[in-house]
Amino acid sequence: MDFIPKDEISESFIQCVQSGLIEKGLDTTLIFYDFDFLTSRINALKAAFPANTMHTVAIKANPLIKILEKIINTDIGVEAASEGELFLAEKSGFHPSRIVFDSPAKTRNEILLALSKNIHINADSFMELKRIAELREQINTSSKIGLRINPQVGYGTITATSVAGNYSKFGVPIKEYRKEIIESFEKYEWLTGLHIHIGSQGCSMGMLLTGFEEILQLIIEIENRINRKLLFIDIGGGLPVSYDHNQEPSKIFKYGAKIQELLQKYQHAEILLITEFGRYLHANSGYTISMVEYAKQYIESNTLIIHVGADLFLRECLNPGQWLHKFILLDKNGIIKSGEKKLKYNIAGPLCFAGDIIARDIELPIAEEGDYLVIYDTGGYTFGMWSKYVSRMFPKTILKTGNTFEIIRNREKPEDIYSFWSG
Ligand SMILES: Cc1ncc(COP(=O)(O)O)c(C=O)c1O
Repeated sequence: MDFIPKDEISESFIQCVQSGLIEKGLDTTLIFYDFDFLTSRINALKAAFPANTMHTVAIKANPLIKILEKIINTDIGVEAASEGELFLAEKSGFHPSRIVFDSPAKTRNEILLALSKNIHINADSFMELKRIAELREQINTSSKIGLRINPQVGYGTITATSVAGNYSKFGVPIKEYRKEIIESFEKYEWLTGLHIHIGSQGCSMGMLLTGFEEILQLIIEIENRINRKLLFIDIGGGLPVSYDHNQEPSKIFKYGAKIQELLQKYQHAEILLITEFGRYLHANSGYTISMVEYAKQYIESNTLIIHVGADLFLRECLNPGQWLHKFILLDKNGIIKSGEKKLKYNIAGPLCFAGDIIARDIELPIAEEGDYLVIYDTGGYTFGMWSKYVSRMFPKTILKTGNTFEIIRNREKPEDIYSFWSG
């Protein structure tokens, strides 16, 4: 299954209203997440990659604790990119050996913390490597340390999420600093692997594979120079997914097969592979339902005012036209609306700025106040970017596992907003 079917969405909504999980009138927006869908993606990932791969999921894509806690049972790890995410990982029960720590801004304290817990660290720069070298003197540690390389394979179709162009704020640029990268491995015997991440959505599988091949060639050069084998390659995440449902869904098996081919070609089938997928695992596993508060029908334009905008859909609002979700409309009882007559609507949020528009010119059946708009594929990189602008309350979040529904995060209350702003 590549996407959650619309009938299932309608049925889930109706069931949750009937069971009282959804309180109409109060729950103006709901986030739904389907754990079985996630499990099927995790299983596909495991089947596609070599057995000696450590899969981790990027916490930033979806930091909901209840989901992290359930992910542990699927036997994969997590990628953390801040002290907060390290804390979430440990509190959710991930063993330090299943945590990979990335970030371009690690403080000395954060590095010491990770070293003291033997957590894998990928250094983002030579400057960070130097810091790690100093801090390793102070502490006994068995943390694996990798160096993030920017393989400079070019920009994808979404600039804001392309991180392996000629310039990137991440990683050491391979073209200009190949010699120095190799020398770092000579200098630091504890440096045992390489890390890359090409981008998140918008970068083709071809680009990801070019980056991987660059890294394999670099590894061979390093190994020849230092006369020891490197222990791991962390390939990051970045496999694109389909939001408009017309594109081909991501081809995890093709990607895994190509990775294995390249490992064979460069005689590195034995090396430990690490992955850090976020979007591939989460994006299609969730959806959002928001009530139409007003259906504005004017001569020149139609606008649906719903209860989420740039607070939940930061990228969609700030980079219009780049994140093309699919939408369907449910009536006030949760039945899928159809009908011959359709109108084009702008989908606008509740925030006080003109750019608070999730999508434009979306063709839908005629909408009325009290209908519910379903926004597909919101399981990753939506609530993880939640913004407190205009002090809106975070929506209730419902997890579906099999035929069971449970609230995994309650709707925020005005008091929660007060405590956020009062500290
Ligand atoms: C270092 C790193 N790893 C993994 C990911 C996850 O990428 P994706 O969600 O596209 O798989 C990101 C996302 O930005 C990242 O920065």
